[in-house]
Amino acid sequence: YHVDMDASDTEKGPFPFYMLKEINEQPAVLRRLAQDYLDESGKPVIEPDLLAALDQADRLYILAAGTSYNAGLAAKSVFETLANIPVEVGLASEFGYNTPLLSKKPFFLFLSQSGETADSRQVLVKVNEWGYPSLTMTNAQGSTLSREATYTMLLNAGPEIAVASTKAYTAQIALQTILAKGLGEKRGVKSAQDFNVREQLGLVANGMQTIIDEKDFINQLAQNYLATTRNAFYIGRGYDYAVSLEAALKLKEISYVQAEGFAGAELKHGTISLIEDGTPVIAIITDARVASHTRGNIQEVRARGAHVLTIAMEAVADKEDNLILADIDPLISPLLSVVPTQLLAYYTSLNRGYDVDKPRNLAKAVTVE
Ligand code: G6P
Repeated sequence: YHVDMDASDTEKGPFPFYMLKEINEQPAVLRRLAQDYLDESGKPVIEPDLLAALDQADRLYILAAGTSYNAGLAAKSVFETLANIPVEVGLASEFGYNTPLLSKKPFFLFLSQSGETADSRQVLVKVNEWGYPSLTMTNAQGSTLSREATYTMLLNAGPEIAVASTKAYTAQIALQTILAKGLGEKRGVKSAQDFNVREQLGLVANGMQTIIDEKDFINQLAQNYLATTRNAFYIGRGYDYAVSLEAALKLKEISYVQAEGFAGAELKHGTISLIEDGTPVIAIITDARVASHTRGNIQEVRARGAHVLTIAMEAVADKEDNLILADIDPLISPLLSVVPTQLLAYYTSLNRGYDVDKPRNLAKAVTVE
């Protein structure tokens, strides 16, 4: 299939690894999505047939694998808030063989960077047999999932070469946000009308750039917190919980540190037993509704000796927080809060001497079930 790119898209340039290049590209990827999918007044430009099909749906089923699945988890609240549509997010590998009871008018959204993941495709084959409408959001024009779904939206993120996905995750969340805004406006949902998606994506892009410019400091944090540890925990609630799952996946994939993302309070319901003197716990705090609760969880793990690193959005930040994120609407905070966790994973892998772009046992696209 044909992909538009120039040489700079497939060369590392000044970057030692593609992953760092792709992390760096994220502000530009977001700006490009805003350009490609918003008109001059900031209104989403979406295929009318797609919007009509979504408008008729009573439930959105988001299916994916790996990082794309995590991008679906992060967008569930975005669709529910902006478009007033119930969302179920499923692992494609589970969904096809253990299909839940479907709603009367389901619509299926497949998230896939490569558009070739066999686990996702097996569900799409069934969805087509059942005769339900579907959309593939992918970075690969002409890919299998794109050809076989009813509709396609392209991420236009440029080739992602590092096995660990970074810019595809943020592009998927951003494009889902644009779609949710478009659907919400069509449905007359007030929170969609009030959500200035162009302004928000601009704030996110600037906030990402600030984090990227602090990468040497994040490398220091990686050295202080993660250099030799065997395990690590990420905690957060709500939107911050969704991103903590992706943060943990990044660290596992490329640095081989056993990591888990937890809903903040869940540690105390069993797994706080894993906290020892010096265990790294990375807390993400962006939403005022849950900030004080997450801070309470930080106290609990600190009391057991955890070495706590905090990433907080300015509006809910304390002086002692290690990293401060620019203020954006917390609904889409994973777009921004994921970036320091990508860099923490990158530097941990780099400092341990691993091949960041080609972690053992992993492939960029998995075309077998
Ligand atoms: C592979 C990759 C992951 C990716 C997953 C889903 O396992 O190693 O990084 O998230 O597939 O890929 P997709 O192309 O469907 O987004």
